[in-house]
Amino acid sequence: MTWFDSPADVATRLDASGYLTDPATATTTFLAGALEKPLLLEGPAGVGKTELAKAVSRATGAELVRLQCYEGLDEARALYEWNYKKQLLAIQAYGAQPQRGTATTVDGNHQPQPWNDLDHSIFTDEFLLTRPLLTAIRREAQTVLLIDEVDKTDIEVEGLLLEVLSDFQVTIPELGTVAATRRPFVVLTSNASRELSEALKRRCLYLHLDYPDAKREREILHKQVPGLDDRIAEQLVATVGRLRDLELKKAPSIAESVDWARTLIALEIRDLDEVAIAETLGAVLKHQSDHQRAVKELKLGRS
Ligand SMILES: Nc1ncnc2c1ncn2[C@@H]1O[C@H](COP(=O)(O)OP(=O)(O)OP(=O)(O)O)[C@@H](O)[C@H]1O
Ligand SMILES: [Mg+2]
Repeated sequence: MTWFDSPADVATRLDASGYLTDPATATTTFLAGALEKPLLLEGPAGVGKTELAKAVSRATGAELVRLQCYEGLDEARALYEWNYKKQLLAIQAYGAQPQRGTATTVDGNHQPQPWNDLDHSIFTDEFLLTRPLLTAIRREAQTVLLIDEVDKTDIEVEGLLLEVLSDFQVTIPELGTVAATRRPFVVLTSNASRELSEALKRRCLYLHLDYPDAKREREILHKQVPGLDDRIAEQLVATVGRLRDLELKKAPSIAESVDWARTLIALEIRDLDEVAIAETLGAVLKHQSDHQRAVKELKLGRS
């Protein structure tokens, strides 16, 4: 089964599930599905990277399996680990059975029996704890695999991803190779806090997501914040645009625009004048120095 029929199909179905695409996003998303290649999304915080994976899952009805990356993430958290507790209990239970764990000699003493056969029984599926990568590979139903904030992991984890993303398989020494019956739709996101390896990039389609233009941002706001007045949406997007030009420590993203719109509705503010901006700036700027800069540059009456 194909994921999407065309880029236009991506645009329509993602729109219906609350995500607005531009032509480049729609085309690359379509290709990721058609070519069964992972999609690497890079760009500043809050521009809709994670949301795109969620929207694909909503639009297609495929379950979302998420691997949240962080420093120190290892194989046991990303791929699989053996359930040691359960294995230990199985070993104890095995040892406690005289007919299996020990052999009785003629004088009635118990002697330990070889444990070799136990090895085979505690390294089976029953004792395997699957983590997101293996879960996604093994699922038979359609799956969207989100590998979120991949730049936060150590470089070693990328090595682990390579086998999964190039062959869609995982090798478990005790069990053998588990290959995907159905390839998941893979989305990787990155804030580009460090360069990803060329080997990883080569296996992916690449899309840089950036702040949208004013028209699309207004459309996103109307979609995300029902009941938002046209005029105030226009004022808000224009102000956010000016703030982005200031080269702040943390420029406001789409997420902040959405938060700001909700704030204005909650406060029943119908005109985003200087006073209203100054009063609600905390919804958009999260650093004191940015706040001060904005007050000065936008010549706001009071802060
Ligand atoms: N194209 C879009 N259509 C609709 N909503 C969007 C779009 N882009 C972003 N948003 C909104 O912005 C919010 C933030 O997006 P998201 O969490 O995906 O950002 P991100 O790029 O993953 O940021 P970070 O790098 O901080 O994780 C979303 O919850 C959504 O409300
Ligand atoms: Mg994100």
